[in-house]
Amino acid sequence: MATREIANEIVLVDIKEGFAEGKALDIWQKAPIIGYDSRTVGVTSDYARTAGSDVVVITSGLPRKPGMSRDDLISTNAGIVKSVTEQVVKYSPNAIIIIVSNPLDVMTYQAHLTSGLPREKVFGMAGILDTARYRAFLAEALNVSPKDIQAVLMGGHGDTMVPLPRYTTVGGIPVTELIGKAELDAIVQRTAQGGGELVKLMGTSAWYAPGAAAAQMVEAIVRDQRRVFPVCIKLEGEYGIDGVYLGAPVILGKNGIEKVIELQLNDEEKALLETSRGHVKEVMDALDKMTANA
Ligand code: 2OP
Repeated sequence: MATREIANEIVLVDIKEGFAEGKALDIWQKAPIIGYDSRTVGVTSDYARTAGSDVVVITSGLPRKPGMSRDDLISTNAGIVKSVTEQVVKYSPNAIIIIVSNPLDVMTYQAHLTSGLPREKVFGMAGILDTARYRAFLAEALNVSPKDIQAVLMGGHGDTMVPLPRYTTVGGIPVTELIGKAELDAIVQRTAQGGGELVKLMGTSAWYAPGAAAAQMVEAIVRDQRRVFPVCIKLEGEYGIDGVYLGAPVILGKNGIEKVIELQLNDEEKALLETSRGHVKEVMDALDKMTANA
């Protein structure tokens, strides 16, 4: 976000004493080299310093360890996302909130419950990251620039995510004209497990691509770019789904979600989306049960 110069000030908050202060200082010391003037400030749990923020990105929570699914994090991270969201809305009641914490779709639901914000103002980052992984794998397989690959993806941020090869193009050319079905299927499969591949390699979750994806969303909002991205949003009747948080293509601008785009899915794509919906709904219900018992 700092290198994109999309904010005059970026405040990092962490609960670990001195950690955000150190990160912010390190990023600020990069400014003279790269050449940007967004100020970065770090604080330990001092949400008052974030007062009046336009956009807040919540990444708080435990990351996965190898062998864990994102859903294994639900009980710990729901409590963390709840308390962070309370602090955020206390000091920045007009902020647009972007969730990155996992399990993504259900943590976005948690932030919605806690903040009471409408779906246009609280949504999750997953689709840009998942399509980025898909585009990167395709760029490698086709030996072309990742810049020229356009793609959209739907569903939850997990193994049931739904990449849509029918809507994937390479410099305007349908990807299906450039790659065989078996190779494309393997890439779709690798994409669905893309986060897990990194957790296995590093022992914790990814940060460069997730950070870049969140920054791209913030930029679309603060510059009112009306970019078209897949974002995790509460569907309210679109795709025949009501009240479930799922990835879908939207227009992002100064008001947050400006519009949800409804694609004409074929039967196979609809079936995949339904599987993903069922999975996310199950985890949302588990959260509701936990909250009721708390
Ligand atoms: C990922 O897929 C952090 O969920 C994020 O890497």
